Amino acid sequence: SPHHIVVIVGSLRKESFSLKVANALAKLAPSSLKLEVVTPHGISFFNQDLEANPPADWLAFREKIQKSDGVLFVTPEYNRAIPGVLKNAIDVASRPYGKSSFIGKPTGIVSNSPGPLGGVNAAKALQHILPGISGTIMGQPETYLNAVGDAFDEKGNLIKESLQKVLQQYIDAFAVFVGKQSA
Ligand code: FNR
Repeated sequence: SPHHIVVIVGSLRKESFSLKVANALAKLAPSSLKLEVVTPHGISFFNQDLEANPPADWLAFREKIQKSDGVLFVTPEYNRAIPGVLKNAIDVASRPYGKSSFIGKPTGIVSNSPGPLGGVNAAKALQHILPGISGTIMGQPETYLNAVGDAFDEKGNLIKESLQKVLQQYIDAFAVFVGKQSA
């Protein structure tokens, strides 16, 4: 059966380009992967005071990641870092201390921006955050998607061929990476 990959989107926006990129990746994924796209909606603010009796939404999010065969982050860049909602989701799943839900999961990072720099700083922020709490991060191909503003039609379908090519290469490489990590 295909490897189950949880795709964590770093935006709550209904018309989020990150969400559209994630959905496009789900469609382009080879048959060895099944992508489940999730957003940070409904994940309570992390608060150490709640750790003894964690909210149900934390437990559900952690369990989803624990049950997966890998995690893919698709995120915009906010002020040269990742959006707070994504950091919060990561903080929630990183706990309890030493029991991060991401441990052992092969991980991929795809940043994007309607601007020229492709959200590279958000990707670098994740490369800073994840090593201490996750499995191996795929290093190649690096994927910082710029100028995503004209890449989708009004229904959210990917219409930019150059972007489709990059996403196809990325998800094919990630499938190979996950296959090797799980072997
Ligand atoms: C942005 N944006 C942005 N873009 C970028 O390339 N580098 C940046 O540092 C920032 N900073 C930033 C801060 C805040 C608070 C907002 C709201 C926006 C623009 C951002 O890329 C754009 O709004 C994207 O459309 C957001 O991603 P989603 O929601 O489309 O996935």
